[in-house]
Amino acid sequence: MQEDPFITPSESNGSGLADALGAALCPAGSPVISAEMLRNPKALSVLRDAGVTQVSLGGGENGWMTTRYATASAVLVKTGLRGEHPMAGSMRTAAQEEVCDEEQLFFLPTDEHTRLRRMISRQLTHRRVAGLAERIQREADQLLDSIPHSEPVDLIQSFCRPFPVAVLCELLDIPAPERRYIRNYVYGWVAEYGEASLVTKSAGIELADYLKTLIAARGEAPGDDLITAMLRTGESDSLDEDVLSAIRLLLVAGHRPVTRLLTEGIEILLERREEWERIKQDPERLSQVIEELLRYVTPTTLSSRYASEDTVVEDVPLGPGTGIHCALAGVNRDPEKFEHPNTFDPNRTANHHLAFGLGHKHCLGAALARAEIDIALSTLATRFPHAVLTEKLSDESGRRQLPVVLAPDLPTCPVRH
Ligand code: HEM
Repeated sequence: MQEDPFITPSESNGSGLADALGAALCPAGSPVISAEMLRNPKALSVLRDAGVTQVSLGGGENGWMTTRYATASAVLVKTGLRGEHPMAGSMRTAAQEEVCDEEQLFFLPTDEHTRLRRMISRQLTHRRVAGLAERIQREADQLLDSIPHSEPVDLIQSFCRPFPVAVLCELLDIPAPERRYIRNYVYGWVAEYGEASLVTKSAGIELADYLKTLIAARGEAPGDDLITAMLRTGESDSLDEDVLSAIRLLLVAGHRPVTRLLTEGIEILLERREEWERIKQDPERLSQVIEELLRYVTPTTLSSRYASEDTVVEDVPLGPGTGIHCALAGVNRDPEKFEHPNTFDPNRTANHHLAFGLGHKHCLGAALARAEIDIALSTLATRFPHAVLTEKLSDESGRRQLPVVLAPDLPTCPVRH
């Protein structure tokens, strides 16, 4: 097995840390951590050596950061550290219609967050996910039927991006004519961490209006979908608003990490042909491969907590409102926890990665995500065992592409049932 290039830092403190990272310093003297650094093994290693360290995330967001597994595991479950942003009270919530900044939905005031979380987790169960499997399979097959098989296609645009949105539409039972509208809206939330969303305020209001109509329709004519289920079991005076917030939270949270995992996962597996072929030959093994992809890719890079009272993390005192950010891609490559952490090892067992976070903000869609990734990869590898990557994952003209020929040798491919 070949290790990725990995450079051990020599300097990792004070402005030396910024130098070692090649980072700018914010006015308060902390290194400004970019989105790229949060994915770069070398930068993450430098940060890990610095321990719990003061950083700026840009945009006035300052706080502390850890890339160590043991520290992050403690931080994410610690009483006194909540997911509520200190500005949450003044942030607009989804119930207030105007919201179109996706990030805000992740840092709601504690009361609202607890209520929404309870409502979603009671309904987005393993049972519901199992009941959706056939429909997820159908969505995967339909998307793959609709693209050319014997010429290069960009699998991001033709599959990795539309697939998770199609699954969300199934989960919420969005009527077929409106699915394109939802997809285009969700695509507008392209912003990677640190960039602005493309969704405008008026588009946000329009979406809220559309979803309110849908919620009212489900109230009158219940279905077997998640919206109906949440309406039945929600427990506040503002039930419709809560359901609206929950739908938006799911739309925001439920597509980008799946797209990233599929994009990078397909590339990793196609580059290791024997792994691609083993998916078909040994389907039982796929869940272990998926866990390693989750660890190695770590689609969501940050999980943040804010002190609700004076608290201490590794001798660092955090006053009320102070943020501590767990850099999950670094945490999942901590050599103290994972042997050869920078190697993709599909035989890895006891893989207790934190790709879905931990504690009171642990991913509510983990079961659904695992199911859709399983169906997507097994469908692709079974229908297209000879698929080839024609180029590496590239970022041509600012748009990521994954050029693949699905069936270079086969003129037609049978649909997998
Ligand atoms: C590979 C796919 C996914 C990964 C790696 C992932 C990862 C995460 C992580 C790390 C968090 C915690 C964020 C934090 O601490 O602030 C989170 C939260 C969340 N995820 Fe996922 N997620 C994935 C897919 C999904 C899907 C498919 C859904 C739903 C359809 C979903 C729904 C949510 C929700 C609602 C939250 C917010 C929980 C809260 O605020 O309490 N996720 N996810």
